[in-house]
Amino acid sequence: MTELDSIQIHVSSADQTLKLGEIIGKSLKPGTIIALTGELGAGKSVLVKGIAKGLQVEEEPNSPTFVIMNCYEGRLPLFHFDLYRVADEDELIAMGYEEFFFGEGVAAVEWADRVPGIFPEEAIEIGITIPEEEESENSRNINITGAREWVLSFKSTAAQASLI
Ligand SMILES: Nc1ncnc2c1ncn2[C@@H]1O[C@H](COP(=O)(O)OP(=O)(O)OP(=O)(O)O)[C@@H](O)[C@H]1O
Ligand SMILES: [Mg+2]
Repeated sequence: MTELDSIQIHVSSADQTLKLGEIIGKSLKPGTIIALTGELGAGKSVLVKGIAKGLQVEEEPNSPTFVIMNCYEGRLPLFHFDLYRVADEDELIAMGYEEFFFGEGVAAVEWADRVPGIFPEEAIEIGITIPEEEESENSRNINITGAREWVLSFKSTAAQASLI
């Protein structure tokens, strides 16, 4: 069993979410899967843009709403999935998702809760919520859960960047 740990981060702007994504992107190893959850407009795509930056992807990812996955070249390949319109696991098997999940790249998956069965326990889970009673509409709570070692090293980098 993978020993897990979590970290909660409060951000107050889309720029901070982008920055957080960039720090995450810099810390990722080949074969990492990131399961993103959060309602419409929570900021999942903003976070993926940051992750892409941290992976030295030159293009800016747009939302892959009409395709299941977009692929970007960077320090590691980035596979950006959006499962919003995916019906079930069979649809993902048919498009060959396993090659992208279990290869040398990074898979960042929006709407991961639509098909929860495909994620291994080592996946990094990132949930974004919009606080209800908050003055600013740009506030978000970001919860990150992953392997204990990775979370510990991530915490120290996030602290250095004054994000926590
Ligand atoms: N703190 C914040 N973090 C991220 N986005 C924010 C924040 N504050 C405001 N926003 C705005 O919220 C929107 C988030 O949009 P985004 O496309 O990233 O959401 P999403 O979770 O990917 O939604 P969808 O489910 O439609 O894919 C953007 O317009 C962004 O500017
Ligand atoms: Mg999105």
